Amino acid sequence: MAAAVAAERGLAMATCTAPVNIAVIKYWGKRDTDLILPINSSLSVTLHQDQLKTTTTAAASRDFTEDRLWLNGKEADVGHPRVQACLREVRRLARKRRGGGEDTAALSLSYKIHIASENNFPTAAGLASSAAGYACLVSALARLYGLEEELSEVARRGSGSACRSMFGGFVQWQRGERPDGTDSLALQVAPETHWPELHVLVLVVSGEKKPVASTVGMQTSVETSPLLKHRAEVVVPERLAQMVRHIRDRDFEGFGQLAMRDSNQFHATCLDTFPPIFYLTDLSHHIIALAHRYNAHHGHTKVAYTFDAGPNAVIFALADTVAEFVEVVRRSFPPATNGDQFVRGLPVGSAALSQELVAAVVTEPVPGAVQYILHTKPGPGPQLVDDPSQHLLGADGLPRSRA
Ligand code: DP6
Repeated sequence: MAAAVAAERGLAMATCTAPVNIAVIKYWGKRDTDLILPINSSLSVTLHQDQLKTTTTAAASRDFTEDRLWLNGKEADVGHPRVQACLREVRRLARKRRGGGEDTAALSLSYKIHIASENNFPTAAGLASSAAGYACLVSALARLYGLEEELSEVARRGSGSACRSMFGGFVQWQRGERPDGTDSLALQVAPETHWPELHVLVLVVSGEKKPVASTVGMQTSVETSPLLKHRAEVVVPERLAQMVRHIRDRDFEGFGQLAMRDSNQFHATCLDTFPPIFYLTDLSHHIIALAHRYNAHHGHTKVAYTFDAGPNAVIFALADTVAEFVEVVRRSFPPATNGDQFVRGLPVGSAALSQELVAAVVTEPVPGAVQYILHTKPGPGPQLVDDPSQHLLGADGLPRSRA
């Protein structure tokens, strides 16, 4: 194996990429903050890595004197408890696999490691970078140590939502019952090829960092919100089963309605938190109202929104709706300067809007409010990068200078 061969020279390296995911049944609240065990199951759509991905290289060498970590080219704290938890768990599994003894052909577990990680999108854009980041870290470490088992349980220790980024397509994180978390895992509900007509538009409205980090916010919600308790105990179990059915049936009406309702209930629990947490802005509310006007005009659910712990909207639509809705967004939030960069990612065709549609849906345009639209679709889980020229670390184990 690559790692074993390289180990003879004292240096081994592995590079992986991992995706972002967007929840349609939200995770919000932990029953165990150390093990990152949730109070409810959740379900997400993995987004395509052609548009949004993290790349991570992990290297181990007998010449390294300390563990080191670089995020987007800058050295970061490798001692971060969540990074350490992932490292410890991967090494524990590698040791277990080797049956306690040091396999001479395998990479030594006592070597220090260097890790470099980069996103192909702005970290602060609020696009769930921690999920892709930890899924990628765990995937790269697993490759380095030659682990082949399913590792969503380890990714979960980095960030709860990261366990769902360990699979492509439609992914459920089952809350589990055991106190040690061994049954709190991600499972694929359907692969990304299951529903090819389903497309995703990310409306990036703000580059600002979110006001309250989700880790802190959700704990305050657990402590103070009776609505969250009701949601976790009663609402989510029903919704999760429904959502799985809608996905299996490729039922956009059902899928979209439930995604919107669940996003709204998550933000209602934020408002029910004391003191309240506000992730949605006036602009988010504007987009929500726009989606409802658009659906009402067509007489059924053509687009569905969902919002995480930030103001960016993620819109689901079937392929035949994308061009028209993008034009509606362009008319509702006329781009200020960079009109040519307004739509990014997958190509979007042109659409002419009828006067009735414009009159019914495009009310009071807000120029410049949406920075850009990223057009993407469901995609696969973490990938191994075979090409050594793509490693983020050089032969000296330090980050390669970026062009
Ligand atoms: C609103 O996974 O970021 O995006 O487990 O504390 O790292 P930690 O939280 P995190 O929370 C994500 C919350 C959410 C909903 C979701 O992705 O399900």
